[in-house]
Amino acid sequence: MAKKEHLYSCTQCFTCYAKWSGQCDTCGQWNTIQEHSTLKSTQALQTTQLNAQITTRIITNIKEFNYVTGGGIVPGAVILIGGEPGIGKSTLLLQLCNSFNNTEINSKPLYISGEEAASQVALRAQRLNVDTSSFDAAFGTDLDQILALLNQKNPSLVIIDSIQTMYHKQTESSCGTANQIRACSSLLTDWAKSHNVPLILVGHITKEGSLAGPKLLEHMVDTVLYFEGERTQNCRILRCVKNRFGATDEVGVFQMQENGLQEITNPSQFFINQNHVNAPGLVIFPSIEGTRPVLLELQALTLTSHMQMPRRAVVGWDQTRLSMIAAVIETKLKIRLSQKDIYINIVGGMKISEPAADLAVAMALISAHYSIIIPKNIIIFGEIGLAGEIRTVNAMENRIKEAAKLGFEQILGPIEDSLIKCKTIEDARQWLYNIK
Ligand code: TYD
Ligand code: MG
Repeated sequence: MAKKEHLYSCTQCFTCYAKWSGQCDTCGQWNTIQEHSTLKSTQALQTTQLNAQITTRIITNIKEFNYVTGGGIVPGAVILIGGEPGIGKSTLLLQLCNSFNNTEINSKPLYISGEEAASQVALRAQRLNVDTSSFDAAFGTDLDQILALLNQKNPSLVIIDSIQTMYHKQTESSCGTANQIRACSSLLTDWAKSHNVPLILVGHITKEGSLAGPKLLEHMVDTVLYFEGERTQNCRILRCVKNRFGATDEVGVFQMQENGLQEITNPSQFFINQNHVNAPGLVIFPSIEGTRPVLLELQALTLTSHMQMPRRAVVGWDQTRLSMIAAVIETKLKIRLSQKDIYINIVGGMKISEPAADLAVAMALISAHYSIIIPKNIIIFGEIGLAGEIRTVNAMENRIKEAAKLGFEQILGPIEDSLIKCKTIEDARQWLYNIK
């Protein structure tokens, strides 16, 4: 027997209350507490057979997408894809529709757009060579209508493009507000979970970090992916920042082309091949993205500054870390970087956040300063301490293996059996001098 009971909750912060009140004690908002009826079950709690709960993942034809999600999409999973407008989210998802085959559900993916007209999506599909009969499309923003359509179609995958455009009439706030985004996401999530159908929510974020929409959803969804890149460059990175079904920090690499996104299955080769010149200031660094090693080219340029405060321009690397490395170089090697403008760039639009790149940055700077070319068959890594000591880093074996695959035989770093072992930044400089 089930007994009906009334419960109240705040639409702003989701705190539950036994009775109605005008103001929420938790978030302090007025008139946000609403009644919702719930079925209180009198059935006893039972144990669950866990081995019967293991579900098979849905493998899409986009390998990089499978990789980033931890090996394919889990049925009933809710995935949030955030990214700047124009970065390629709709493109990626349209391509995903085309390659999505959920054998457990005998229906098509459903792509719901609240932003674009049917003609726009049709044109894009044509450009991408996507078979429009392989998925259903709907255009609207009214959540009640959308839920009715979901019940009618029972799709194999639901894509909401974007969550900021959806509108739930019973929630009293205007479209795009935190309340609306939360209410719509929670209703869609409930539907996905109860029907065991995966749901992908698109969320726009702006460069300034105004993540109002997607950020507040991060705790509600299973997986959070960010689609990153510079719109002026064609490299796109799909980065996993949260995953209840796999490892985080994994990245997938794509290239935006005339006919859509193309997967880069060998990112190391892709990033290294972008540049063929031999010049001072260029270094190859084996980074670790999630669990995957990716070789990157790091570039440095130094020149005498004409400003009181010399420039420190960094693309893809940490500014504070650069100041620290520059300070170590200045004190230990007596190279006067404090009077130089410094430019650091990671080729291809990748970002490095590991201290493992310290030595690579330092060597790029020293190489640029002395105008000595570092031979192209060498990879450089190691963390630099304030005393100028070079420390070991994680996943060294992985980094070296990846480099070896692409023909890099020599390592400059804190490795015992490496050809060029250095314990301190002075050792590293000495090695560079000897090349000259
Ligand atoms: P889009 O998927 O609409 O971005 P989002 O949904 O994240 O806002 O991508 C739009 C940009 O991608 C647009 O500037 C044009 C470019 N593009 C290509 O370069 N090639 C293509 O095949 C497509 C469809 C788009
Ligand atoms: Mg879009």
